[in-house]
Amino acid sequence: MNLDILTYYEAIESTINLDEDIKYKSLVHPSDTQQSNVHNWYKFKEGYSPNLLNEILEYFSINKNVRLLDPFCGSGTTILSSILLDTDIHVELATGIEVNPFIHFVADTKVKFSTLNTSASKLFIKNLESIDIFNYTTELNIPELSTIPKAFSHKTLIQLLNLRELIKNTFSDSYEANFFKLALASILEQVSCMRKSGRALKIVRELVDYDVKQIFIEKCCKMIEECEVLQSSHSPHTVSKAQIVNIDIRELQPYDVFEGYNLVVFSPPYLNHFDYTEVYKIELWMLEFVSNKEEFRNLRYRTFRSHPSIKFEKTDIYKSYHSKIINDLITYLESLEKKEQFYTTILGYIDDMYKTLSKLHSITSNDASLACIVANSLFGSKKKDNLTPVATDLIISEIAKDIGFEIVSIKVARELTRRGIAFPYGRESIIYFKKVSSSN
Ligand SMILES: C[S@@+](CC[C@H](N)C(=O)[O-])C[C@H]1O[C@@H](n2cnc3c(N)ncnc32)[C@H](O)[C@@H]1O
Repeated sequence: MNLDILTYYEAIESTINLDEDIKYKSLVHPSDTQQSNVHNWYKFKEGYSPNLLNEILEYFSINKNVRLLDPFCGSGTTILSSILLDTDIHVELATGIEVNPFIHFVADTKVKFSTLNTSASKLFIKNLESIDIFNYTTELNIPELSTIPKAFSHKTLIQLLNLRELIKNTFSDSYEANFFKLALASILEQVSCMRKSGRALKIVRELVDYDVKQIFIEKCCKMIEECEVLQSSHSPHTVSKAQIVNIDIRELQPYDVFEGYNLVVFSPPYLNHFDYTEVYKIELWMLEFVSNKEEFRNLRYRTFRSHPSIKFEKTDIYKSYHSKIINDLITYLESLEKKEQFYTTILGYIDDMYKTLSKLHSITSNDASLACIVANSLFGSKKKDNLTPVATDLIISEIAKDIGFEIVSIKVARELTRRGIAFPYGRESIIYFKKVSSSN
């Protein structure tokens, strides 16, 4: 175990008010998403609970007008929660940012649920009952991705692609096209022999021929029903404007997303080698967000450097800032004789976090409150004698301070282990911080 690195974490932690609060345990996890209308349209394992936003609003005692930003909005939990808020808080503007075009599409389609034409959608489903979907068209483009024929039986694949074509031909580029494409995306895992498992896709069974049309219809009926319930009961006055923007947060320009945000809630990619492009590759290719290898590779380059799937260019943005602890930590990692790949990942992550938090600083109001949900990790292995704990919550806190935020507290939501074994700083937490007003 690399114990030297712990001294840097201890130095950061000694300045922070940190305690465990078990009420957050279920909130940092998407477990209750399946019981929440619209949130449940797509199973996004890396999201958090739809109820977390309420807890954060309470923590900061926010009861006035909110301009809300989620710079890593993933499946759109924060933004959708703000739309469905059952309080008097008025959300003037709610903006989500997401780099992955498929994940962006999931969030964008969910937050626009109120625009669904339910009559046209029901008619589509009714007509679909009598269509021979297997033979709908013979001109199908099978995606180039080699995983696809391993994931679906031939019969299943043909039905999926035909359904995609039918949706396009029926609705061209209206909201309904996206609504049904999302329903299709949401059944892909169920009708494949693969499962998302940690950072990879794993084959869990033999290829099976599914009755895709029936599974799709069931899912659509459930989604339409939820829309009808919400459209009749929900008063959309709580959010004046909601938008999901498909950009790389590190390249954000203020005119992309407006300014003056007074609440930022986010969960960045964790420093744990998880590559969203890889894990969502079947969805990216099947739904035509990517059509060739070059586009796919370019997507990876736009992702936060939390994984080593490609060789990213080295940067040293941290040098333009002042934190002695971050400087010392990097000098220490670079001085180590044995160069581990994960040291490079840690350095890239630190620089990306500097870039991101400085962008957030520039588009938030003077009194802005921020909440960041993140888990720590353990790199290396016992066998190679290079186990290295990574206290991402402390690293982010130190960078935030360096940029001009003030850490209010860290709430530990739950302890984490690796394969059942505890490790130093093994935890998932919420960092609460505020912008230090320039007049202070
Ligand atoms: C932990 S997930 C967020 C989950 C989200 N809170 C939810 O409940 O669905 C992190 C997200 O950051 C996205 N991401 C990665 N690199 C990004 C970048 N450079 N700019 C914006 N988003 C990025 C990933 O695609 C992923 O969807």
